[in-house]
Amino acid sequence: MNIRILSSSPLVGPALKQLGADFPELCVAPFRSIAWRMALPTAEALIGLLSEPLGEADLDLMPRLRVIGTYSVGVNHLPLEACKERGIQVVSTPGVLTDATADLALALLLAVSRRVAEGEALVRSAQWKGWAPDQLLGTGLNNKVCGILGSGPIGRAFAKRVWALGMKPAFWDRDGKGLPVDFGPGLARRLPLEELLPQSAVLSLHCPLTPETRGLLDGRKLARLPQGALVINTARGGILDEPALMDLLARGHLGGVGLDVYEGEPALHPGWLEAPRAVLLPHLGSATVETREAMAELLCKGVARALGGSC
Ligand code: DGY
Repeated sequence: MNIRILSSSPLVGPALKQLGADFPELCVAPFRSIAWRMALPTAEALIGLLSEPLGEADLDLMPRLRVIGTYSVGVNHLPLEACKERGIQVVSTPGVLTDATADLALALLLAVSRRVAEGEALVRSAQWKGWAPDQLLGTGLNNKVCGILGSGPIGRAFAKRVWALGMKPAFWDRDGKGLPVDFGPGLARRLPLEELLPQSAVLSLHCPLTPETRGLLDGRKLARLPQGALVINTARGGILDEPALMDLLARGHLGGVGLDVYEGEPALHPGWLEAPRAVLLPHLGSATVETREAMAELLCKGVARALGGSC
């Protein structure tokens, strides 16, 4: 049978099975396995994960490819220009993971600001001697500025959450300045990065990784954050300079860091394993059952539509 749809994963929930009912020429084979490679010449649709980067050379092996579906909102792992040139549609999963990702960023912020991981480790160590006035003191958030990079749906959903904590959201986005951002319960300032950073007691990243945002926060820019600032990244590694971030944390300039994404993940800069005041998660932004099912449904519908069917 000629494979028309090649997926590297069964995804979560029933959506891929449903797609297979409508398009029986569907095959699930691990990324870059022999079976996956053998299906490339006839594949019209490729479904993959954010951890499975593709290059232009891969496209050369798929002369019939019409659509790439990625089980993510981010598309930075795909050769977008080459897809455009070849008329290959790219389908991703915007919208359905907004709340899950904003929730996880909030979880990281609270974990970092209230030293949740250290407290949990202390209890589990069986060394806890009881309540003490200065034990594991954290940082309050009320009335402080939360700098948010990216004014898209996830950035705005995060703003809504920190606003509920009494914080003052302020945005930077690729426009850099201009009209205030409406994040639902209020309007927030949109500032140039040089103005936003020195005011931000918390900085949270919610912009995509693009040629423009790669390396956006170098050591010099990160050092403009105020003493004790907290940095949260649930967007992509590569937007900020991790060694510089680690250095500012080690020197006590930053008060804490919460990361869900890393440059070159799943490889981790070894320094993170020793870093104090860092909460580290394994890219869980969209990881709820409901969200992953909704992502699969949206993705499979998009692929079916691109192939001229319904699902
Ligand atoms: C995405 O879908 O791009 C997110 O990184 C998932 O957490």
